[in-house]
Amino acid sequence: MNVPNHVAIILDGNGRWAKQRGKERTYGHHAGAETVQRITEDAARLGIKYLTLYTFSTENWNRPQEEVDILMHLIGTTVENETPELLRNNVRLKLIGDIERIPEESRRKLYASVEATSGCTGLLLTMALSYSSRWELTQVSRRIAAEAAEGKLDPAAIDDSDIEKRLSTAGIPDPDLLIRTGGELRLSNYMLWQCAYSELYFCDTYWPDFDENEFRKAIADYQSRERRFGKTSEQVAIK
Ligand code: IPE
Ligand code: IPE
Ligand code: MG
Repeated sequence: MNVPNHVAIILDGNGRWAKQRGKERTYGHHAGAETVQRITEDAARLGIKYLTLYTFSTENWNRPQEEVDILMHLIGTTVENETPELLRNNVRLKLIGDIERIPEESRRKLYASVEATSGCTGLLLTMALSYSSRWELTQVSRRIAAEAAEGKLDPAAIDDSDIEKRLSTAGIPDPDLLIRTGGELRLSNYMLWQCAYSELYFCDTYWPDFDENEFRKAIADYQSRERRFGKTSEQVAIK
């Protein structure tokens, strides 16, 4: 049945999960990294084509330096260690965000995995790292302004597709389903353009506890929705 083509996830709740257990926040990030592996594998198994994970936001740079350092290290080593598994599952890795801000050692590991998995044809796993939607849209605006100033683009003719093809997600269809774990009811600067018509699913489960069962619950909920894209129910029933 109608598995979403593109699932985006705001993985939230690592810190609270750890705190609940009397541990440091970073203990939760380690547990969360394991969930990333499990859910990626499950998404591939389910035949989902695109999985886009909000892993580190532009705003997350403002966290205590020690937590940022540990996260950066963890992201690099997890991706490095996981690359053979990505290859086994035919998963291609893509990065979106201001990757140049990632410390060099982790950045190298990330790029190495992107390169190693570049021939994979199954699931496209996009990790949003040092990403925020406003950052992305600002980049797009600069490019469009520059091209207009050079006379390559007519301002009056700019349409949706001119913006879309300059986004870091260019070529990837918009998310059908956006999941946020951890109980907060907000988007926290995630893919504001791309999620214009995504179905939203919020759950209280902290990310380290989000498992295959929870994932399937979110998908089942998505499957029960009627997506109208501004039309009437009668119109979409005709197809
Ligand atoms: C999500 O968990 C991971 C990142 C944002 C990097 P948090 O670290 O935000 O955990 P909580 O929300 O504080 O519990
Ligand atoms: C959103 O989580 C960012 C990521 C999941 C990477 P945050 O924990 O940073 O979001 P806020 O601060 O609760 O909005
Ligand atoms: Mg959080």
